[in-house]
This record gives sequence, C-alpha cells and structure tokens, in this order.
Amino acid sequence: MYATCRICSGSVKGTIDLGSHPRGNAFPKPGETADEFFYPLVVGMCDSCTMVQLMADIPQEVRYHDSYPYYASGSSVHRGHFEGIAQGFLDTELTGPDPFIAEIGSNDGVMLAKIAQAGVRHLGIEPSRHVAELSMAKGVRVHSVFFDEHSARPIRAEHGPADVIFGANVIAHIAHLASVLKGVKHLLGPRGIFVFEEPYLGSVVEQTAFDLLYDEHSFVFSVRAIQAAAEMYGLELVDAQLVAIHGGSMRYTLSQPGAREVTPGVGELLAAEAAQRLAEHSTLEAFAGRAERIRDDLSALLGSLHAQGKRIAGYGAPAKTTTVTNYCGIGPDIVPFVSDSTPSKQGRLIAGSHIPVVPPEVFAADYPDYALLFAWNHAEEIIAKERAFSERGGRWILYVPDVHVI
Ligand code: TMP
Ligand code: ZN
Repeated sequence: MYATCRICSGSVKGTIDLGSHPRGNAFPKPGETADEFFYPLVVGMCDSCTMVQLMADIPQEVRYHDSYPYYASGSSVHRGHFEGIAQGFLDTELTGPDPFIAEIGSNDGVMLAKIAQAGVRHLGIEPSRHVAELSMAKGVRVHSVFFDEHSARPIRAEHGPADVIFGANVIAHIAHLASVLKGVKHLLGPRGIFVFEEPYLGSVVEQTAFDLLYDEHSFVFSVRAIQAAAEMYGLELVDAQLVAIHGGSMRYTLSQPGAREVTPGVGELLAAEAAQRLAEHSTLEAFAGRAERIRDDLSALLGSLHAQGKRIAGYGAPAKTTTVTNYCGIGPDIVPFVSDSTPSKQGRLIAGSHIPVVPPEVFAADYPDYALLFAWNHAEEIIAKERAFSERGGRWILYVPDVHVI
C-alpha cells in the first residue's frame, strides 16, 4: 500500500497495519454508536524525506469538533510542565520591548495562562471552541481558527511578527503540516523561534507504543524528518531535545535560516537515529511484529484472568485506549468500565470497543482485582495517587513495552 507524502510528495510505503479503527477521541454516547466513523489505521514512511505518517486522510473538522474532549490541564505533571515552559519563554525569549508569543492549539490555556498573567502579548490559536472558552476564562486571548498559511496572514497583520510560536501535541496532528510551516515562516520574526514538542518516533519504536498511533496523529516525527521538512519550507532546525512526557517526546526548535546557532544536540540525535535505523522500513515492519505479540499476550492474559473470575477495570481513557481496545479486541465483557477524571468523557463510551467511561469514584467505591493502565504515560502519577488500590491487593496491568503486571 502506497500514499503520497504530505511533506515532499514522495512515496509513502504503508508498513504498520493495525486494521480498521474509529476516531480516538470520538467518545460516542450510549445509543449513538450506529454510525461510527471507521478508517484503516495504516502508518508508513516516506521513501524520500523519511516522514512517518498516517496513510488515510481524515477531515480535520471531524476530529477537532466544538466538543473536543481533551484537556491538556488534566494531569498535574503536565500542568507543571507547561507552566515551566511558559516561565522559560518569559525568562529568555520574551524579554525585549513588547514581545509577542503565539500558540498553535492552545487548548485550555495551560501554557498561555501564565503568559497572560505576566501581561505579555499573546494569542492562542485554537479551533475547538469548548477548550478555547476554557482558556478565555483564564484570561487568555484566543482566535478560533485552524492555523495554516492563510490564517497566518491576518494574524501577522494584526499582531506583528512573533518572537515565539509554540505548539505541544498538536503539530504532528495537523495533516496540512506543509501549510502550517509556510504559515510559521510568514508569522515568525527574523530572530523568532518556533518550538514544538510531539511524541517521538524513536521512543514510540523503542517502547513499541503502538497505541500512540490513531487518527489524530497524522505524523510521528523524527529529528531527521523534521530537519528535512524545515529546510523544504524555508526554516532551519536549530535544536532538538528529548522530553519525558507522553511516554517520550521531542522538543524541536526552528528558526529562520541562519538566525540561530545549531546546537550540538541536533547532530547527536541524528547519529542516534541512524544507529537505531529509524529511517528504514524494516524497523517499522519489526515494530508491527512486536505490536502483534503484545496484542496476543494481552488478550491471553485478560482472557485467563477473566476465566479465573478476576475483575478487571480500565484506568484512563486517553485516545490511546481506542487503539489498544480495538486492536486487541478488548470489550466490556472483559473490561466492564474505564475510569477517567475528565468530566466530558464520563458517561460516554470508548469508540468501537464501547467500554463505558466512568468517574474515578466508581473505581474507588469497589476496587477491581486488576486495573489495565491505558494512561501508561502517567503511570507514576496515577500509581502514586491510587496507592490504596495497590494496598488492598490490586494489581496494575501494563502493556508497553511489553505485557507485565505490577
Ligand atoms: P493523555 O495521555 O492524552 O494525557 O490522557 C490521559 C487521560 O487519563 C485523560 O483522559 C485523563 C486521564 N487521567 C485520569 O483519569 N487520572 C489521572 O490521574 C491522570 C493523570 C489522567
Ligand atoms: Zn516525504
């Protein structure tokens, strides 16, 4: 199976085929599952620019609808992380006269609220109206549009060039990334930086995090592919740093060409990627084989526990839950509910697998024997928070990088 690369128009070879899947963040209501949208979840790499991407095209309006349920503030670790990023910008890049920072996909304002408090000129660009409203309540200025080469023009005309353009867990979502890079090129000031952090291909491959593949992740970035994409659209990759969030992310910094010194980290990471053979189709094929192994092991473990009469609950309903439950055939017969702290997900179902999402109080009221930790990227925070569950003999099931019980 081949598709056309969204970055360079080269040829993308589909190597990871996880079958037919619904949208990760659809969360249908009970009784509203008749017309669920399914698409083939196949991911591959471009032969030319090495960008790893989803083969299917899914209209973005279908994904970032007005009731988009993801809140970036949902985890205290993430809140601290984004407040730290905001403080870092305030201390370094936003110290000149009347600086300006724009954030693509500002979500509920977790990062920009701190910038707003400091009285610095800013603009959140967030098409999902519900989360945009949450950020406005925090004093954040928001423009509700999809960022691209067209919407960048009136933004620059009104606000002037940006000292910083930021994006977290959003740039890899945008299928029209080429147009975003053109928009960034236009909006970014001569000394400005475009900083974004996204799940990292090297970490996804290393951990066999197959559940990070879903409709919203149009791309899984590598340093090499971002360097190539930046160059193609008149920008330069000047820094890359690993970030321990979402199970392994990379923070990329782009500038206008020649505006900033390229840090040694870029070359070091490129060398590490070459050693990991990250730009080879065979690496993705091997990944697909390991994902199948996890699927078989997890199905076998859950089936055996169920047969022994053990009670199993799901914990955390990130979009990843949709991929893993549908790929592994896990339904409410084996996992009767998933506990999640996000109010807008509660009372709804995991798309496709139709496991009900309930508030954490339901989990705490009657602890199961096992909790399948779908939000494994928050394992430390969640396991610490749910100490009472472990103390009463409850066990956690994890499936990344392999199936294990703790
Ligand atoms: P994320 O992996 O995309 O950040 O999503 C994590 C999901 O897990 C989100 O729906 C909120 C949920 N969650 C809990 O239910 N309890 C928790 O303690 C944490 C940290 C997250
Ligand atoms: Zn390409």
